[in-house]
Amino acid sequence: MHIEQVFANNEKWIQEKLSANKDYFNELAKGQAPEFLYIGCSDSRVTAEDIMGVQPGEVFVHRNIANLVNSVDLNVMSVLNYAVRHLKVNHIVVCGHYYCGGVKAAMQPSDLGILNPWLRNIRDVYRLHKEELNAINTEDERYNRLIELNVQEQCINLIKTAAVQQAHKERGLLVHGWVFDIRSGRLIDLKIDFPNILASIMEIYKLS
Ligand code: CO
Repeated sequence: MHIEQVFANNEKWIQEKLSANKDYFNELAKGQAPEFLYIGCSDSRVTAEDIMGVQPGEVFVHRNIANLVNSVDLNVMSVLNYAVRHLKVNHIVVCGHYYCGGVKAAMQPSDLGILNPWLRNIRDVYRLHKEELNAINTEDERYNRLIELNVQEQCINLIKTAAVQQAHKERGLLVHGWVFDIRSGRLIDLKIDFPNILASIMEIYKLS
């Protein structure tokens, strides 16, 4: 696609929005009060708004390679704190996806330079679940399962934060783990057991 086409598309989109509601952009400019924080992969095929069917203003989005929540990543932690403590979202979603290149790369024994410390987080997920993963016969199934376990562990990383613990106590904020199946377009809810995870980690990670 030529870059000029992007601006032509934008013009067309503006006209579509205005023809449905002439105050559309005036209303958008007033502020945001999204219900969701979405943390997903940067993969170009997994666009948060499209797969959730939401409009501008409805979801606060953070995307990085393999949808990781790392406690020393100032970027994701800033997004999390802003969304939870200021925008007061009530749901946080970690959305992984099958065929995730980041997870695939973490399964390969090779030096990927600056990506090494980032992908280390996924290798750590593998180590935590080594027994289950090594018991899986085919590489494809192991890959799919690691994608799911990675989502689960990132949800746990969210629950370890003071912002999430406090917002859960104060207003019942919840964390959800999803996987987007690129083959079918379907969003799969991994049904993360928030209360049980919270209870099990509070012995060590209680901050609030
Ligand atoms: Co990905």
